[in-house]
Amino acid sequence: KKVVLAYSGGLDTSIILKWLQTEYGCEVVTFTADLGQGEELEPARKKAEMMGATSIHIEDLREEFVRDFVFPMFRANALYEGLYLLGTSIARPLISKRLVEIAAQEGADAVAHGATGKGNDQVRFELAAYALNPDIKVIAPWREWDLSSRTKLLDFAEKNQIPIAKDKRGEAPFSVDANLLHTSSEGKVLEDPAEDAPDYVYQRTTDPEKAPDQPQYVEIGFERGDAVSIDGQTMSPAEILTKLNELGGTHGCGRLDLVEGRFVGMKSRGIYETPGGTLLLEAHRGIEQITLDRGQAHLKDELMPRYAELIYNGFWFSPEREMLQAAIDHSQAHVTGTVRLKLYKGSARCVGRWSDHSLYSEAHVTFEDDAGAYDQKDAAGFIQLQALRLKLLAARERRLRG
Ligand code: ARG
Ligand code: SIN
Repeated sequence: KKVVLAYSGGLDTSIILKWLQTEYGCEVVTFTADLGQGEELEPARKKAEMMGATSIHIEDLREEFVRDFVFPMFRANALYEGLYLLGTSIARPLISKRLVEIAAQEGADAVAHGATGKGNDQVRFELAAYALNPDIKVIAPWREWDLSSRTKLLDFAEKNQIPIAKDKRGEAPFSVDANLLHTSSEGKVLEDPAEDAPDYVYQRTTDPEKAPDQPQYVEIGFERGDAVSIDGQTMSPAEILTKLNELGGTHGCGRLDLVEGRFVGMKSRGIYETPGGTLLLEAHRGIEQITLDRGQAHLKDELMPRYAELIYNGFWFSPEREMLQAAIDHSQAHVTGTVRLKLYKGSARCVGRWSDHSLYSEAHVTFEDDAGAYDQKDAAGFIQLQALRLKLLAARERRLRG
């Protein structure tokens, strides 16, 4: 038996690697992806080698992640429960896709992941895997083993000569998931939602109170809904997000403290840092303001929560997500132009936008003489007909009240 494991190189997935070998008796192939988490991947290779992985796959997926997952999602302005930019949710389907592909290549019949049985990630990994290969088997050790406490886990590691970082004998202070789009932190010191998150939880954004006293302006160019340049310089999707992270991080943009409803039913509290994504969302909304028709824009905003929930719940590879994506992508045909953002102490505001595809007509909207562009008399009939039902309702009300 052979299984492909989503392997971070950390303690938990190292324990899983060993556990799959000893308790399941399988050969383990590891897969480690660079999604922009900002960690060296070579240590993961060393560790996997040392633990006798049958074969080791390490891949830089940053461009694919941003181009094929993050950018399509940002065309929709997706937010879960009004606030969460879905930084973890959008990465899981890509990891699963590669797990399933590597399984085929390696002749493995199963994939494994380190998500617990309490969360969203297990659902995302597995729904994506089954959608791409209906015969794949999934092993989720957290749902199976009896290593139910940190102590048991560490004892298992010790027994099996798995290196434990010195500070880990205590306890990992909280659970972190990071990639180019965001860093999320959950658990431990964050579990009481009444309590402020301690400063040390934040890993990639300056405290807004300590951010530069001078605002900074940045111009983001868009083509058909996707960011393609920063301050006039054309860049690849991953380069753009990297640069926006740097800018947003410096100015303390994109911090979020949120209690959200997990798909499995419980609520959880998370601290999110999405510096570049926060700038990108603001800028994308800015360019849509002048390039989208009102009907398109409002329909998009109605569809958005459904679309975001599909991604949150793990249905990236589903026909209904693809249907919504087609509509959203169609809406972006004219979303081309440039936005200027002002970054200042945690805020990123759109303060200018322009485009050859603009629907904004100063000739119509001006408070000055519009030289016949618009006949104000037309509005009288427009309002009379809009008011007809309201008048009939008001008349009935008056009649019945006597
Ligand atoms: N609550 C967020 C989500 O469901 C973040 C999950 C973080 N995952 C983790 N393994 N720490 O998308
Ligand atoms: C986990 O439970 O593995 C992380 C949190 C989540 O998936 O929601």
